[in-house]
Amino acid sequence: MRISSPLATMAALFAILFAAVPSRAADENKLEVFSWWTSGGEAAALDALFNVYKKQNPGVEIINAAVAGGGGSAARPVLQTRLAGNNPPDTWQTHPGFELMGQYVDPGYCEPVTDLYKSNGWDNAFPKELVINLMSKDRKIYEVLAGVHRGNVLWYNAKLLEKNGINVGPKMTFDQFFAACDKLKAAGIPALGVGDSGIWASAQLFENTLLGVIGPKGWSDLYSGALQWDDPKVKEAIKLFARMFDYVNPDHSALSWDQAIKELMEGKVAFSSMGDWADGEFVAAHWKENEDFGWVSHPGTDGSFMVVADGFTLAKSAPHKEAALAWLKTVGSKEAQEAFSSLKGSIPARTDIDRSKFDAYHQWSMNSFVKDKLVASCVHGEAAPAAFQQALNDAVTAFIVDKNVDDFANTLVEAARETQTKK
Ligand code: GAL
Repeated sequence: MRISSPLATMAALFAILFAAVPSRAADENKLEVFSWWTSGGEAAALDALFNVYKKQNPGVEIINAAVAGGGGSAARPVLQTRLAGNNPPDTWQTHPGFELMGQYVDPGYCEPVTDLYKSNGWDNAFPKELVINLMSKDRKIYEVLAGVHRGNVLWYNAKLLEKNGINVGPKMTFDQFFAACDKLKAAGIPALGVGDSGIWASAQLFENTLLGVIGPKGWSDLYSGALQWDDPKVKEAIKLFARMFDYVNPDHSALSWDQAIKELMEGKVAFSSMGDWADGEFVAAHWKENEDFGWVSHPGTDGSFMVVADGFTLAKSAPHKEAALAWLKTVGSKEAQEAFSSLKGSIPARTDIDRSKFDAYHQWSMNSFVKDKLVASCVHGEAAPAAFQQALNDAVTAFIVDKNVDDFANTLVEAARETQTKK
């Protein structure tokens, strides 16, 4: 048996230690970006961001750590595991508001990026109501926005509606919507395309319907606790939501949101209520605005803009911090904002971009952002803590099966009491 000297033991120990710690030098020309952008339109838009980055930072290898699944329902748990295990990507996609603050800033997973705003002169380039209200804590900013989606849009297959004698005006009431649904049903067509294999898609249909009934003032009252989830108005929205399920595609629970949009393009369904990432799918398919497809605010929601903003963070102790800072600088640049949103369906978060570069849908959404009331989405993490967002998803799952209005409302009253009061 060999007995090693203390010196040899120490040398062996050092060897093990240095082998275990990856050499930063070998890795330094890399950047790991985490998101859930994998559908046709999403991936194309993410690629556009990558291309601008590569142009501005030649030689940096991008690791695309995207996890598939709309709304981030599969990605966010993966990210939490990585963050808790001290294995962060350099930067990740997040919604501002409760999601950014509750899941990433408060637990200490992010570093502020306030200096980037100063050094790039961004202080007046991004809308203050988003940067100050939803992305800052103790006067430090924690996110750079890539784009702003409008959540409350009703998309339609224009030729299919025309064939069925249905005319859509500049806005739509619930009565008009259901009249169109009845016409389509009589023609044997499921009117409303839903793809809720990720339940958030149905939760979003409910969220849009709720906004259509209670309006933007009711929305802020609901999330501040001034309006209760069992208020007769909320119940009216729940009943309308139930009624919509008389007209949905029978395969809805087997489809993802983008597969539902595909059914719309194939003429299998006529409408889909979805955030304007759906526009990214139409763009990717080279579908023509106002010829192949059209859009209108989700019934009752004209005058409101449901904000679903997307941005990126800087990880605390990011493995490639310089590359990550350069990434955030790219994301906030005019060039990237214009390239990304044209393909993603969002509008650039910066308000000083060249509007003439955008198509008719984007013009419509940019106008709405300026003149309409902005409300924050709960389904996409902004308006309420993650626990409430989850409770809403669970309540929607149960409701689709039992259609019990009182149970749905009471569950949410209880969830709001448990989670929102802890703000
Ligand atoms: C949202 C996100 C959008 C889009 C959508 C569907 O949460 O903000 O950018 O990706 O999910 O996946």
